[in-house]
Formats: sequence, C-alpha cells, structure tokens
Amino acid sequence: MVNIALLGFGVVGSGTAEVLTENKKIIEERLGREYNLKYILDLREFPDSPFGDRVVHDFNTILNDPEVSIVAEMMGGSHPAYDFTKACLMAGKNVVTSNKEVVSTFGVELCEIAKQNGVRYLFEASVGGGIPIIRPLINDLSSNKINKISGILNGTTNYILTSMRDKGESFEDALKKAQQLGYAEANPSADVDGIDAARKTVILAALASGKLIDPKSIHVEGITKITLQDTKFAEQFGYTIKLIGYTELTADSLIAFVSPRMVPATNPLCRIDDVFNGVLVDANMVGEVMFYGPGAGKLPTASAVVADIIDIIAAMDTTHKSIEWKQAEPCDLADFESYKCRRMFIVKENEDIAAKLNGEIKALDGACACVTSDVITEREAAEMANSLGDALISVYRVL
Ligand code: HSE
Repeated sequence: MVNIALLGFGVVGSGTAEVLTENKKIIEERLGREYNLKYILDLREFPDSPFGDRVVHDFNTILNDPEVSIVAEMMGGSHPAYDFTKACLMAGKNVVTSNKEVVSTFGVELCEIAKQNGVRYLFEASVGGGIPIIRPLINDLSSNKINKISGILNGTTNYILTSMRDKGESFEDALKKAQQLGYAEANPSADVDGIDAARKTVILAALASGKLIDPKSIHVEGITKITLQDTKFAEQFGYTIKLIGYTELTADSLIAFVSPRMVPATNPLCRIDDVFNGVLVDANMVGEVMFYGPGAGKLPTASAVVADIIDIIAAMDTTHKSIEWKQAEPCDLADFESYKCRRMFIVKENEDIAAKLNGEIKALDGACACVTSDVITEREAAEMANSLGDALISVYRVL
C-alpha cells in the first residue's frame, strides 16, 4: 500500500483528491498496486467534504509518518511550500507539485536534494496545466537538441485576450470570470503582468538547456497595455495577439523572455484560445511538435499531478534517474537587446512617419500600423520607437 499526503486543499488540491478517488480502480489496475490518500494538510476544516476526515493542520503529522511516501504540494507561493518540500525530500519522501513558483526559483536545489535522498521531485503540473509537456521534453524528445520553444503558457491571460477579441468584453470583466473559473492566481498580477508565464518559461528553458535561469532576470511584459485598437490592427494583418513565453537556444547561450506577440495565422499558436495553452517545440531532429490542452483549472491540473504520483509508484521497483539542472550563470543568458524579430509599430496617422517605416502599412481610425519587412534587434526597435516620438502608440514583436 502506498500512502499519499496532499499539501493544500484549494482548487488543485481538491481536484487531485477527486482524481485519486474517482479513477482509483483504473489507476490501481494499471499499477498493480493499491494506494491510500492518508492526509490532507490545510488550515481550514472541510466538514462537508467526503475528504474532511483526512484533514490535518500540523505539517509534522505528515513529515513524521514513515508510512507516507508521496507528498503532493499544491499550496502555491514560495513559503512554506518550499520549506515543506525540502523537509519531505530530506525525510526520504517523493514530492510532486503544481507550484511553478517553487520549481522556477528553487528547482536546482530541490532536484539535487531529491537525488541525494534517493527520491524524486516531479512537476508535470507546473507548466501547461493538464498538457503533458515536462515528461515529453525529458523522455520523448531526448534524442533531440531543442532549438526553440514558443508557448502560450498562461490560461488566464489567454482567456482574457480571447474574450476581449471575440466578445468585446472589458479586461476587468474577463479577469473576473477567469477568477470565478479557478484559473487565476491568488494575486492576478502574477497572470496579467506575465510573471506566471515567466516562471513557466524558465522551467521549459531549463528542461531544454539543463540550466535554470532566475525568472526575475528575464525580460517580462504582461497584457495590461493591449488596447482594442491593437487587436483590430492585428486582425487586419491576419495576426492574433498572444502572450508568448519564448526560449531560443544558441550555440553558447539562450534567449528567454515573455511578451505579447503578433502571432501570424500560419503559426498554430494563433488558433489557441480561451483557457487553452499551447507549446510549440522546435527540435533539431523531429522538427516542430505542438502540445495543446487546458492550461489551468481544477481537474486538468490535477490530472497532471496524479500522473506524477503514478509515475513514482510505477517506478518504485526500479531505479530512476533524477532531473539534474545547474543554476544558470549570467553569461548563459544572451543579451536580450540583441534579439531580432519583425516588429509592428502602431503610430498616429502621419505620412512623414509612415515614410520612415520600411514595411507593409495599414490605416485604421486615425492610426496606422507598419510591420517591418526586416527583422530588427531590440536596440534598433528602441531607436526607431524613439525617433517616432509622440506619434508612437505601441510596438509589438511579431512571432
Ligand atoms: N494562473 C495560471 C494560469 C494557473 O492562468 O495559467 C495555471 O498555472
């Protein structure tokens, strides 16, 4: 019998209890082993929940119980989630998590502690909600060198952008709905300011490169400045604006950043709407592979948490290689200013200014947008933006 404890009984925690219970028979048949959901750690009581009798309030009850071999951490935030994870790993317990904040900040240390203690630290649910993306990168694409990963990695912002574009809904109304549906972070700034997508981007970059970058060290822009006019210009060019977490590996360093991008209709990420996430991986042998599915929400995320639990139980009889990352050095990260792509400049309508811009131009409601014919660096784009002065409304990177 394998005993499992859950840390946190919020959206994902309660979903995990539901998946473990609802699918218990088929999972146990697949594993040829039985499991028991022994404890749920939460500050609250849940008298009306069928799991209410397993709720404990003292973490030490779980830590000191030698019968518990798998702990699923779904508390969110860094502390005490990191501290509890570390204590569990050091006590020889396997840990699985949906907590991208902890993985992206402390992943190197926690994977190393897991290795030293002969246990595993798995985090399939930390990126892309219910989409299998971590295990495919580790296992199924392991014969490849990863060149690029472009991802719609935040369900809340994708839901908001889709509602604004298709229903003309205000930013605030769409955000409220995302919160009601359980997609948004406790502090929605983490979603709309791109912080959550940055955490997921560095996790994917680490899986591709073996090096974990500090998510605070990369360029991050959210979606709060996107206007209805921007979305209309995007439509005119056949683009859709998406918040993209982007990683590109060069020979000796890597580019990683998060920003809204103009996504052409030819790119499969263009058609990923609502809470869905998509991750487009460009690898040197397979070419482009796309992973798509629900990027947030109770049962989709719980599905990935339980997949990690199953992976650990299935491997209990054999030895498994742990994930090994190094902390990235500043020199591992390429100078963001050198990143090159085409840009869309949106300016107040003015013929002199339009003449400055080399590319296709379209006019709309007293403004015009130009997509540059050439790829230009961040530095060149900033210089161009400067020279446009007050006429400049906004600038986008084209994916
Ligand atoms: N707030 C996150 C999102 C939850 O909207 O994608 C899933 O990580």
